[in-house]
Amino acid sequence: MDSDRNPREVTPAKLSLVDNALSGVKLDPHLAVPRVHTPPAMFGAGGPMLKQFDQSNAASRVGSQAATPPRSVVGIGNKVAKPDYSEAKIVVAMVGLPARGKSYLSNKLMRYLKWLEYDVKVFNVGQLRRSRARQKAQESGKHEDHTASYFSHDNVEATRLRDQLATDSLDMLIQWLRDGGNVGIHDATNSTRSRRAKIEERVAQEKGFVTIFLESVCDDPALIAANVALKVSSGDPDYKDMSREEAKADFLRRIKQYEAVYETITEPHLSYLRIINVGNQVTVCRIHGYLQSRIAFYLMNLHLKPRSIFFSRHGESQYNVEGKIGGDSPLSERGQKYATALPALITDNIGDAPLTVWTSTLQRTILTAQHLPYNKLTWKSLDELDAGVCDGMTYEEIEHAYPDDFAHRDEDKFNYRYRGGESYRDVVVRLEPVIMELERQENILIIGHQAILRCLYAYFHNLPQADLPYIKIPLHTVIKLTPKAYGCDEERYTLPIGAVDTHRPKPGSSPQLQLSGTGREYYGEKA
Ligand code: F6P
Repeated sequence: MDSDRNPREVTPAKLSLVDNALSGVKLDPHLAVPRVHTPPAMFGAGGPMLKQFDQSNAASRVGSQAATPPRSVVGIGNKVAKPDYSEAKIVVAMVGLPARGKSYLSNKLMRYLKWLEYDVKVFNVGQLRRSRARQKAQESGKHEDHTASYFSHDNVEATRLRDQLATDSLDMLIQWLRDGGNVGIHDATNSTRSRRAKIEERVAQEKGFVTIFLESVCDDPALIAANVALKVSSGDPDYKDMSREEAKADFLRRIKQYEAVYETITEPHLSYLRIINVGNQVTVCRIHGYLQSRIAFYLMNLHLKPRSIFFSRHGESQYNVEGKIGGDSPLSERGQKYATALPALITDNIGDAPLTVWTSTLQRTILTAQHLPYNKLTWKSLDELDAGVCDGMTYEEIEHAYPDDFAHRDEDKFNYRYRGGESYRDVVVRLEPVIMELERQENILIIGHQAILRCLYAYFHNLPQADLPYIKIPLHTVIKLTPKAYGCDEERYTLPIGAVDTHRPKPGSSPQLQLSGTGREYYGEKA
């Protein structure tokens, strides 16, 4: 035969062999055309964490659609355990006068670290003081006076009692760390050198435990006034029997008592962070170690400027209509309508205020943002949860092709990692730089995806990991979050443009998500 004589020659017989070999391979129709539209221009300074548009992503997603999973991903579509954080034992001791935002910082830090799955608890000495006083009153009928004079350094008996409370609270914190906790926050004034020396000495007795002092200094009268107002109007049990005016006057006297003895941190050997006016200026001293540095970096990014964060999923996509997950499909007709209507909704809401729009690198988010008259940035980290070998399939197809995986995901959705893809935990980890940047920025609109927005939303509302994968983030709805002192206010705007419902509830249950409030929590204290 001819081909025997010339092995390189292409013959009809050889072509038909190639044809047969290719017949089982499903080609993605999107490969024939550019899968992603021209990226928007990159605007703004864009910190180092802001990723350039990455065209290669389209190819990597296609690569994950193999009909037969490659060997390397077989068997990993399963629950993946939480990383072992048992070695992390940190005491964060707050330092600062009253009304300097110590509880605010404690609460923020707790929310961030809990989102990253560290076990964190705030030990508030004021609450311990009140609960002990209540107990005493019940037992002996004697009511302790906790007005300003109780906090005077000249009040020897009260000073002794307050020192004892701080010591007891620290002991409780240390016991809690011994029992498995990772970061215990000692929320007290710790405003003298001698008090800090005691804390340091006590923690040093515990092997592997470290202390970081976190001093919140505030010399902005407006900020102090706001903190004072918050204290007297937030249902603080110390002021339950006083009028607002009386409460304010008493609280200001209390601050004076502390000012008389306050010593800012100057001890050169301490590990500490000093934050001035929540984010205006930060001093970092002797901060070593992974988690410690992370805590410092997070706190450095905080600010208190009023702003809103808007979340919207992309407009309905063609894959949404077909019930398929993942992929990089364009918008459906209704999705395009949403993209057209979105600018008016946002502009009506925000007026002339500056806003930056963040999208993922997937075309459904970029197309949804296309008419928005704001600066835009694309983030690879905002791409939808990678469903690995299940990318492009419907839930029914997944259940049929991978019944065990499907059941595992239903059992424990947060921990389930798709074969060759990601789990919700993986997504939280990759979103951490996004959270960091969100804390640094002012008004931001994120045009994102269902799983991504669930993870971000859970951070702002302090929702537990088990509930996170079931949070309802419907299509064609803008969620506006406005950070407040102890949480976020939320408003939702749904445009009257129909869309499919992509929410798949956990089989057999309908968890009711409890949003945390925006008020300071007094941890079960009766006001
Ligand atoms: O269905 C839309 C979608 O964004 C998919 O692309 C993604 O896999 C899915 O939602 C994530 O939601 P769930 O974790 O509930 O499957």
